[in-house]
Amino acid sequence: MDGGQVTGRLEGKVVIITGAARGQGLAEAQLFASEGAHIIAGDVLDHEGVYLDVTSAESWSSAVALAVERYGRVDVLLNNAGVRAVAPVHEMPIAEFQRVLDINLIGPLLGIQAVVPHMPRGSSIINVSSLNGLAANVNTSAYTTSKFALRGLTKSAALDLGPLGIRVNAILPGVIRTPMVSYIVDEYEERLASGLPLGRIGEPIDVASAALFLASDDSAWVSGLDLTIDGGQMASTPKL
Ligand SMILES: NC(=O)c1ccc[n+]([C@@H]2O[C@H](COP(=O)([O-])OP(=O)(O)OC[C@H]3O[C@@H](n4cnc5c(N)ncnc54)[C@H](O)[C@@H]3O)[C@@H](O)[C@H]2O)c1
Repeated sequence: MDGGQVTGRLEGKVVIITGAARGQGLAEAQLFASEGAHIIAGDVLDHEGVYLDVTSAESWSSAVALAVERYGRVDVLLNNAGVRAVAPVHEMPIAEFQRVLDINLIGPLLGIQAVVPHMPRGSSIINVSSLNGLAANVNTSAYTTSKFALRGLTKSAALDLGPLGIRVNAILPGVIRTPMVSYIVDEYEERLASGLPLGRIGEPIDVASAALFLASDDSAWVSGLDLTIDGGQMASTPKL
């Protein structure tokens, strides 16, 4: 050591994370804070962060106003909040399908619209899609539709916001150990893990580390990307 100051990879950056009360969002808030970021941790659950319902434009306005009041700008938006609904497509209640689209797709769009006026050049927007943004599982029509569409939104936004110096990328996680899929993991972990090239399911920190790369200046020339974080799952054709 030469006595120089050690700084984090997100030192001084102002970051809004949605769905930050638990699961991947919580891991991202903790990792980003440890790398020197100022975090606005939003969720609809009771937790230490800020109340932010991603489906509400008013809720976005107050979360962004808080960030701007405290820190003067927003450098990173991590659209992580998401929900699933499980039913066969022919029985999926329209209200339920709409609710999933509202949270998983319109939520990130409202977020983008709220933060862009406060983003300096060099800022980064990260949308959490899914391997279900590339292919479906049974009974996931609402979720799969929302995650495909979120990839489309990501690419459109990458084009529209590029001239403003704002990068927009998508993360596509495979199976990650969080409350969202705990019932699947509890029952099938061994089978899921043995089907993956890397031999284990994902942990929230695996996704958070990838999000850190996209949030930081290390990815300064990366935009419009679909980054799969899946233990190698998509490298394979289906096992027969
Ligand atoms: N866990 C997986 O296997 C997996 C795989 C692929 C993609 N994902 C995606 O990763 C993201 C994070 O999910 P997770 O696995 O941590 O799940 P999770 O259920 O543990 O966390 C999701 C969080 O989003 C919050 N949320 C729900 N509705 C909200 C709203 N209207 N406004 C604000 N917050 C809201 C929830 O309260 C919760 O804290 C989601 O977008 C999910 O679709 C998860």
